[in-house]
Amino acid sequence: MEDLSNDINRRKFISSLGVLGLAGLCPVPSLGAATVKDTPLPDSPIIKTQPYLQSALPNQMTVRWLTQVPCYSWVDYGQSPDNLDKREVAVDDGLIQAYNTVHGITLTGLTPGHKYYYRINSKVIEEFKPYQVTYGDTFVSESFSFQTPSLQADSVSFLVFNDIHDRPKSFAHLMQYGGEDKKDFVFLNGDMFDYQTDEDQLVNHLLHPLSQLFSTTTPFILSRGNHETRGKFARHLANYFNNREQKYYFSFQHGPVYAIVLDSGEDKKDGDKEYYGLVDFDKYRLKQVEWLKKEVQKKAFKKAKYKIVFSHIPFYYSGEGHGTLHCREVFGPILNQAKVDLLISGHTHRYGIHPPVAGQHNYPIVIGGGPKEGARTIIRVKADQNAFALEMIGDTGNPVGNIKI
Ligand SMILES: [Fe+2]
Repeated sequence: MEDLSNDINRRKFISSLGVLGLAGLCPVPSLGAATVKDTPLPDSPIIKTQPYLQSALPNQMTVRWLTQVPCYSWVDYGQSPDNLDKREVAVDDGLIQAYNTVHGITLTGLTPGHKYYYRINSKVIEEFKPYQVTYGDTFVSESFSFQTPSLQADSVSFLVFNDIHDRPKSFAHLMQYGGEDKKDFVFLNGDMFDYQTDEDQLVNHLLHPLSQLFSTTTPFILSRGNHETRGKFARHLANYFNNREQKYYFSFQHGPVYAIVLDSGEDKKDGDKEYYGLVDFDKYRLKQVEWLKKEVQKKAFKKAKYKIVFSHIPFYYSGEGHGTLHCREVFGPILNQAKVDLLISGHTHRYGIHPPVAGQHNYPIVIGGGPKEGARTIIRVKADQNAFALEMIGDTGNPVGNIKI
């Protein structure tokens, strides 16, 4: 049992479980439960998903979508809904991406802090012979919009989901309590699935429900939980998402927040019989350590008003399994020394806000719950130059904890 009375470094930790009044809640009207069945796919034999936004930077945005058949795809975009006067394709080594079904097109040279309108286009390639390409019909979507982050954004607002575990209805249910303000991004903090089966699972249990809720206009960031490392499709997952730098561990800055995202890997020893000799997470975590050491030395990190860390597996309050202990051992001391403000995790399926404990973690640890009814949470964060406020809301709309920095 950790000694919660020890409160060195608690200066920033003001309040915890169950202390937020209802007045702090502004639930939006119910968005309706998104299910695999009742959220229609676009009515087209060509398209498989709506667009979803990734990797938002002040001057760029990546638009992704899937098609049912091999296509040549492009994005039309512009600053007015009536004039999508720019066109972008994806080019690899001189070749425009074509005859593919997983599409990712990055719009560059955008103006920071501006609203853009866009639509996706996919032209079917019926036959791709060496000297003869036969095109078929073209799908043209409706127009969507997004906002690029400001260069010196003075605030940020985002949501965190964790441990959905193949229950796509939970996204819409929890989103009711996401608050009304415009979100800069949505962070998926691991275990959206039980294990990876195929592309249809990604579509039906993630891409489609999210596009019904926000991902055509608000980007999301996927961080990997231990369950995303399981199953026959786990090794294909990265083809569908764009993160920064490395695929699953990276950092980003938005307004006053500098976020470090760690990939905590599997929860058992690499040699566990469950993994059949096919994982090597200890070395991977040590590789992250080398990256993390440099990350916390960066001027931008040191100067950031709020330094937060995401790790699916929390380093404490998560049993004494190998994953937890190894993360604690290799990441813990660096984060303590770097004086991070907060660790946001999931994994345990028991929500809680844990104050700093001297000699262990000198920052609070927020653990989101899930995946069963009554245990699910959505975390909403708002930060500006004056304050950082995190609220965790339970799945009946009840606030279950908050932190102010
Ligand atoms: Fe987990």
